[in-house]
Amino acid sequence: MSKKIRKAVFPVAGLGTRFLPATKANPKEMLPVVDKPLIQYAAEEAEEAGVDALVFVTGRNKRSIPDHFDKAYELESELKGAGKTELLNKVQNVLPANVDCIYLRQAEALGLGHAVLCAESVVGDEPFAVILADDLIRGDDGVGAIAQMSKIYERYQCSVILVEEVPPEETHKYGIVEIEDDDGETAIITSIVEKPKPEVAPSNLAVVGRYILTPRIFALLKQTGRGAGGEIQLTDAIAELLKYEKVRAYRIKGKRYDCGSKLGYLEATVEYGLSHAELGDDFNAYLKSMAEKL
Ligand code: G1P
Repeated sequence: MSKKIRKAVFPVAGLGTRFLPATKANPKEMLPVVDKPLIQYAAEEAEEAGVDALVFVTGRNKRSIPDHFDKAYELESELKGAGKTELLNKVQNVLPANVDCIYLRQAEALGLGHAVLCAESVVGDEPFAVILADDLIRGDDGVGAIAQMSKIYERYQCSVILVEEVPPEETHKYGIVEIEDDDGETAIITSIVEKPKPEVAPSNLAVVGRYILTPRIFALLKQTGRGAGGEIQLTDAIAELLKYEKVRAYRIKGKRYDCGSKLGYLEATVEYGLSHAELGDDFNAYLKSMAEKL
């Protein structure tokens, strides 16, 4: 098995219904947190982990994603002409030159599992990462979630799934895992179930939008029928994978913002704003003045 994760799959064909009407014509992955869209944070996290091919599984209304990662000739020549070098750099450095972007179309939104299966021909027989861009994760000490998980993959040579404890009453929003041999950082997954009600959830350890998967998942996804919500669930294929291979849970070292929810998105905006190099001080002062009025 290859030791390095070289490809990351970004399922971006979802309808983003939790954020309507903002997501009516614009993908949820293009919602900005301060000055970068969610998908760019996700792409940067992958690059930082050494990924050199970004595989986007897109759907209708997602044209702005390829546009974002593409060259913007008109804009670049305007900025150049106006001598706005700093802005020009920002536009040109959305992606480093050595990273390839590959776009695949998921014709029907049949679920996350189906989206990942769409990437099979591009990923091939290699381990790969899956990143759900609406889970925005700020890793501790500046090390992103996929870079952290890659280390675990390299150590154990098995699939690795990022988890976090959630309030027990929220298990119905997540894939939930049951674990053994827990060393506080990583553990072996013994079962996984998609969106169980709190009464039947095996734990409150939730899957949070980052996966490193071995390629066997593709064969299992092909056999996976519709599950929770009538969709082809990645979680159900992982449950099958457990019968053949070890799969590890890795506890997030950092903070996750659920940017698919309005509150999580606002939290991310405030916290990324506070630590922003240009805006941080002014924004801090503004928030303090607001807090005094509350
Ligand atoms: C998906 C997965 C779920 C996971 C969640 C994390 O659900 O199916 O297992 O816990 O992402 O964000 P979704 O949020 O797309 O319904």
